[in-house]
Amino acid sequence: MNINSNRWNIIRYTIYTPIYDLFGRILKHSRRKAIEMLNIQVGDKVLIVGAGTGLDFEMIHNKCEITATDLTPSMVAVMKRRSKKLNRNINCMQMDAQQLSFADESFDCVILNLILAIVPEPVNCFKEAERVLKTGGHMLIFDKLLQKHKKPSLIRKILNPITNLLFSRINLSFTTVYKHSSMKIKADKPTFWNLFRIIVLKK
Ligand SMILES: C[S@@+](CC[C@H](N)C(=O)[O-])C[C@H]1O[C@@H](n2cnc3c(N)ncnc32)[C@H](O)[C@@H]1O
Repeated sequence: MNINSNRWNIIRYTIYTPIYDLFGRILKHSRRKAIEMLNIQVGDKVLIVGAGTGLDFEMIHNKCEITATDLTPSMVAVMKRRSKKLNRNINCMQMDAQQLSFADESFDCVILNLILAIVPEPVNCFKEAERVLKTGGHMLIFDKLLQKHKKPSLIRKILNPITNLLFSRINLSFTTVYKHSSMKIKADKPTFWNLFRIIVLKK
């Protein structure tokens, strides 16, 4: 089976669903910092792409209108339960990040947390997120991207085939994803011992 495929993503993330929050919580501090940097305004329409179990939900103001999507049905089931538990009216949908079913310019903010390095075609995922973002809107990317102007280290090169099989690539360059975009980079910060980056863009 092709390990960079939606089919493999559904299999592995179905297996991880019951334990995802244990690992997801390790990144809580960086995630909070990332969402603060996005500077979401009260009343904003926010799209979370590949939202997983919905760990972002409690960090977003409850007066925002949130839509959360994910490819894996068990993840969507957990995010629905979380939304109910938090007493939030979040629209949770199963959807491929590379082919969003929303109209152009639908959202004030789009969040791509820990998703670009996982989807088979990161460029398509980024382009779709840009398409559904309103002009003047902001996009957040928090992921294990290579640091600016850095080539993959030997250790990343060695580990990448293993991490790619298990959960995610660790050698994705943001430059490759961003190169055809006209969006402006507003912030770009390393986080979590420089293994991750937080990037905020404006359309
Ligand atoms: C590492 S988790 C990140 C979840 C969440 N964004 C977070 O920050 O905790 C990756 C998520 O991407 C989802 N996923 C994988 N391929 C996808 C695709 N093509 N479209 C949408 N979601 C996808 C998986 O089901 C999983 O929930």
